[in-house]
Amino acid sequence: MKNYITQDPWCIIEEGFHRDYNEISESVMSLGNGRLGQRGNFEEKFTGKTLQGNYVAGVYYPDKTRVGWWKNGYPEYFAKVLNAANWIGIDIDIEYESLDLNHCEVRNFRRELNMQEGYLERSFVAILKSGKELQVNSKRFCSIVDDEAGVIRYAIKPLNFDAKITITPYIDGAIRNRDANYDETFWDEVRKETGYGEAYIELRTRKTGFHVATGMAIEIEQDGVKIDYQSQPIKYEKYVANRMTLDCRQGQETVIYKYAVNLSSLNYDPDTILLEARQSMQRITRKGFDKMLFEQMQAWADKWKMNDIIIDGDVAAQQGIRFNIFQLNQTYTGEDERLNIGPKGFTGEKYGGSTYWDTEAYCLPFYLSTADQKVAKNLLVYRYKQLGKAIENGQKLGFRAGAALYPMVTMNGEECHNEWEITFEEIHRNGAIAYAIYDYVRYTGDEHYLVEYGLEVLIAISRFWSQRVHWSQAKQQYVMLGVTGPNEYENNVNNNWYTNYIAAWTLRYTIEAIEKVKVLDAEKYGDLIDRIHFREEKEMATVRQIIEKIYLPKDDERGVFLQQEGFLDKDLMPVTDIPKGQRPINQHWSWDRILRSCFIKQADVLQGLYFFEDEFDTETLRRNFDFYEPMTVHESSLSPCVHSIQASKLGMREKAYEMYLRTARLDLDDYNNDTEDGCHITSMAGTWLAVVKGFGGLRVEQEQGADSQLVLNPYCPDQWQSLAFKIRFRSALLQITTTQTDITVKNFSAQPVTLKLHDKALTIKGQNQQTVSLKGKS
Ligand code: BGC
Repeated sequence: MKNYITQDPWCIIEEGFHRDYNEISESVMSLGNGRLGQRGNFEEKFTGKTLQGNYVAGVYYPDKTRVGWWKNGYPEYFAKVLNAANWIGIDIDIEYESLDLNHCEVRNFRRELNMQEGYLERSFVAILKSGKELQVNSKRFCSIVDDEAGVIRYAIKPLNFDAKITITPYIDGAIRNRDANYDETFWDEVRKETGYGEAYIELRTRKTGFHVATGMAIEIEQDGVKIDYQSQPIKYEKYVANRMTLDCRQGQETVIYKYAVNLSSLNYDPDTILLEARQSMQRITRKGFDKMLFEQMQAWADKWKMNDIIIDGDVAAQQGIRFNIFQLNQTYTGEDERLNIGPKGFTGEKYGGSTYWDTEAYCLPFYLSTADQKVAKNLLVYRYKQLGKAIENGQKLGFRAGAALYPMVTMNGEECHNEWEITFEEIHRNGAIAYAIYDYVRYTGDEHYLVEYGLEVLIAISRFWSQRVHWSQAKQQYVMLGVTGPNEYENNVNNNWYTNYIAAWTLRYTIEAIEKVKVLDAEKYGDLIDRIHFREEKEMATVRQIIEKIYLPKDDERGVFLQQEGFLDKDLMPVTDIPKGQRPINQHWSWDRILRSCFIKQADVLQGLYFFEDEFDTETLRRNFDFYEPMTVHESSLSPCVHSIQASKLGMREKAYEMYLRTARLDLDDYNNDTEDGCHITSMAGTWLAVVKGFGGLRVEQEQGADSQLVLNPYCPDQWQSLAFKIRFRSALLQITTTQTDITVKNFSAQPVTLKLHDKALTIKGQNQQTVSLKGKS
């Protein structure tokens, strides 16, 4: 755990240069706009510890799989969102000395990510070997208004000398991924151009053939006035630059504006992409830095208006939650249904920017409650569009008749994961995709989604579950053998409770969805069943039997569900029995020892009780929580949030807060010693869940036959004075503020809103608020 980030409600601040933590700072200071993203690298040359990172959403490379023992069914490649051209680079040379913070003394260093306004700022004084002192101030952002553009204002001021300073802004496309399996380069050059103060380069990914055109344009100001300068174009392989040498006087500020655009063939024809890049550049240079920054600040203000969380009385917690919300907004905007959310977003190479079940299980509720409905819908449509590939994936593993197995890790719908115990066995992910459809429909009321897209996915997933279970003569029940549940510290187990439950639930929900679609649009239903050769009567007869006879392991004596068959044979002990210094166990124990132990990586049975809470009473939850929580090591960042929500529900406030703390500042404090690889973007949605579903008690209840309604059971953790969060529900925008004594619900929309607050119905008129006392509530 590190504590070097200054606590501030709106900014992430590194004061003083923490050379050894530079890669951590680069991760947490990442910028993005859903289309582009980059780590908080330096503009000037830096030969110290750094992971250069620039990413263009959706542009990936199929890196050839590397495994020890090849198993049939393994995917050939792992898709990676590539480290793309570095467009921030500006080399500074002062009379044969290069500015490189690794080789000079650094004073007054400050790097600051401003989350309120969406930019990264850095300032320092560099004392070169020659004794020359140079002050540098830089500010940059990836525009969320012009989402193919980024811009930098880089100001230098000699403090104790006059000199000719050579400035070389460049675009470097000779980039490699640090995590490349075979150390290959992924980019080829297509063409490049340089002109006065500008340069363009077009690169193409090997194998996948994506084109990315990156351009830069430079403007220079001295004494606040734009100046003309002589520039020397430079071209090497995959590299373009403009070099200019300027007379700089002591105390005079020289400002370099570097405008950049990144266009990809996801959106442009490769034949004209460079031309389009030039036009896009004209648009943004005409706007200029100040206007772009102003628009950026306004756009962020609009976002915060919709989804800020305000914590009074704890700056560390306030900074933590805003950091999570900020990074989620930087990663996915929902503008483009072909894009998704990688576990590290645009903040590093790990997990390759690919899509995991994290999106459906953890991220979807965040976007449902904080953004326009189309954002969450696009996440669902992404999977709908990949249904064909999921069916092919099922076929590769021997399933038939339209059975879909969605991949564990994917970019374009094809499976990329290649560890058998996960690729073939962690099939519960299929259930999360079905659950997301349910979650979306329940939250938004958009039942037509089932007609257009949802039902087709549900039937395909149900076909998979129907074939994956089989009848056990011995048990006289349906069983599912050889799976890995969400707890990846158990592999190849039989009858994982969570997987069996979510499989049977999917079958039930599919029946419900069929009935709904028949009523909503019988004609479309008819078209669908013809197209997918769905034999309703026959297929549903099997489905009904499975629902009725699925085996769900449990222990009657303890009154708990069993994570899997045989779980009680383990040597059961609490995590507190693990000797100090041996945690995390995945860094200290052999895999074999982990598998045989009772220790649980992440919520498994408790994940199921969280998804399907309406089907279990509180006492059942309590018994299972008391049984599993002490054995859970939370070595997945996705785990503590679920435990936090459950603890809140059970009134275990201290536990809920303890679990919340493990997620909220995970990256800011480098809790797991791995932030240098990138931030845990998908688990940030989990932090939001711990606040809004945990402390806020947000639920949507659907009673038979009635429209679903919003339910809130908020409380303010004892450590805070107040907690306020905003959510969108249907057409309403609400703010819920809870102190230790009362709750205020404010309705920003024109229409009245009816909800259930701590079990009492409440209607709040449009543009109005109501306060309810918490007296008597625990
Ligand atoms: C977790 C998975 C998760 C993946 C990506 C793993 O450590 O166990 O559940 O999908 O990380 O976040």
